[in-house]
Amino acid sequence: MKTEAIKLKRPDMRRYLVPFNTGSVPQMFTDCLVIGSGIAGLRAAIEASDSCDVVVACKAELEESNTWNAQGGIASVLDSTDSFAEHIADTLKTGCGINDEEIVERVVKDGPELVTQLDKWGTEFDTHNGKIDITREGGHSHPRIAHAQGDCTGRAIAQALIRKIRQNEAITVVENFFAIDLITDDENNCLGIIGCSGTGTKQIVWAKTTILATGGAGRLYRETTNPNIATADGLAMAARAGAVLCDMEFMQFHPTTLYIAGASRALITETLRGEGAILLDINRQTFMKEYHPDAELAPRDIVSRAILSQMLKTGSTHVYLDIRHFDKAHFSKRFPLINELVESFDIDVSKDLVPVRPSAHYMVGGVKTNSSARTGINNLYACGEVASTGLHGANRLGSNSLLEGLVFGKVAGREAIANAAKKPSVMSLHKLKYEVPQSDRSRLDTADVLNSLRALMWRNVGITRSDQPLAEAQEIITFWQRYVLDKVFDSPGGWECQNMLTIACIMAKAAQGRTESRGVHFRKDFPEIDDKRFKTHIEFA
Ligand code: FAD
Ligand code: SIN
Repeated sequence: MKTEAIKLKRPDMRRYLVPFNTGSVPQMFTDCLVIGSGIAGLRAAIEASDSCDVVVACKAELEESNTWNAQGGIASVLDSTDSFAEHIADTLKTGCGINDEEIVERVVKDGPELVTQLDKWGTEFDTHNGKIDITREGGHSHPRIAHAQGDCTGRAIAQALIRKIRQNEAITVVENFFAIDLITDDENNCLGIIGCSGTGTKQIVWAKTTILATGGAGRLYRETTNPNIATADGLAMAARAGAVLCDMEFMQFHPTTLYIAGASRALITETLRGEGAILLDINRQTFMKEYHPDAELAPRDIVSRAILSQMLKTGSTHVYLDIRHFDKAHFSKRFPLINELVESFDIDVSKDLVPVRPSAHYMVGGVKTNSSARTGINNLYACGEVASTGLHGANRLGSNSLLEGLVFGKVAGREAIANAAKKPSVMSLHKLKYEVPQSDRSRLDTADVLNSLRALMWRNVGITRSDQPLAEAQEIITFWQRYVLDKVFDSPGGWECQNMLTIACIMAKAAQGRTESRGVHFRKDFPEIDDKRFKTHIEFA
């Protein structure tokens, strides 16, 4: 039986970040606007282009996305000895009791056809004996991770989808276009967005349907695998427009990112552990068996906490990944990206251990959607990491995220077509005006605020949490909000800071509200799961 979600009040916020008058900004029209060029946005655009004209807008180049950086692969049942039932069971077990079972079944069952379609579209997954090769990751009871160009799976998928998008005359691509806010009317309809081009010109895009595919929020943390684009923009603009955010306390930390002081935290794929890599502590001792019977292949929240705990026990800043027993030639072919990365730091994997520690990786929560990718706002759909479909529950099984983006990208594109077809062929011009009162409060340096915010989130809203640090985080963020959210900025740096402060506070509040430990959310002061009170979601509305 489904338990009612716990509802928290969304903090009060200004409706739009910037003032505008639709009469005095350049305007563009489309049947379907897709914001984001990761797997979800690209797949949605291809689907919608069947019978709609589509605009794909992204804030950087098409290639800059979390998708492009994905390493391990995409999970799907591709082998006759595997089964949908087992993939479903693994996803539910990892999600700790709060997945939406219908969504899990749908995503798992749609997977093989859509992954095979990606292969036909040019992704060229790695093969073994003429079939797509599959490998293993933590939490999977069976090898089912399809990979391409070794550990460059995301890049191979994105390249294939981008080729299709570029060849498609129904799709217009607008790069370096920052979506600032969703525009809505008084009847809860999304009408499109106000955005800003790379040259600094504000523009309105009127759209019969809008698909939000803006990805995650990893850049909220000092230590993260995520590229610069992952600044929670879509989450924040959906919240300002009145959409429901769900499961915002669940930030997934990846156990193994390269730890070289001063360098950014590059991912060291979990498939390495899937293929036999071992974790050692600073004293060169194995430790994972002490934490979980599946050792290196336990779900990643358990591995991340085990690493943290072992770092504390041994007073060290990192642990090691041991891949010295791998065949060196095989390693460089199977993991070319990681090979290049470690070589650039003069690490010889046949002799040296690789220093690693956990980093923020994946936003499990997001904009609440139903099985048709609909949000609570009419004409607004969400898919990929920005959405909360219910697939992952309290923790995401490795490689289920590209799968979710693929499946729900297609769903969102299809639904957008059906919705756009119901609308008049000529779109009405809306006259809207929004003003922001001048604030005389002091200005803060947003770059400095962001550095401090990322350190605060790492410290107080990180892998392990407890009441007092979570309360302190909200107090500090609220202070910054007072001096940043009242201002009007005219470039992405300022808007990103406003978005990140908005979402950070919601995450800390959700984490404080869940006084139990479940999945990726671990409370030192409430270390047990509490099914009586919390076998449900926390929603902000
Ligand atoms: P993204 O791919 O993140 O794309 C977001 C898009 O939104 C970008 O185009 C961006 O420019 C655009 N955007 C954002 N804000 C704005 C704005 N304000 N205006 C305009 N555009 C905007 N998952 C797996 O399943 N398997 C893996 O092997 C795997 N490996 C990973 C490795 C790394 C290093 C990382 C970081 C993640 C990995 N993940 C993996 C997770 C997975 O890659 C992501 O969850 C998934 O790619 C998200 O896809 P998406 O389409 O939702 O968003
Ligand atoms: C990895 O390759 O370890 C990342 C896989 C994922 O995030 O699903």
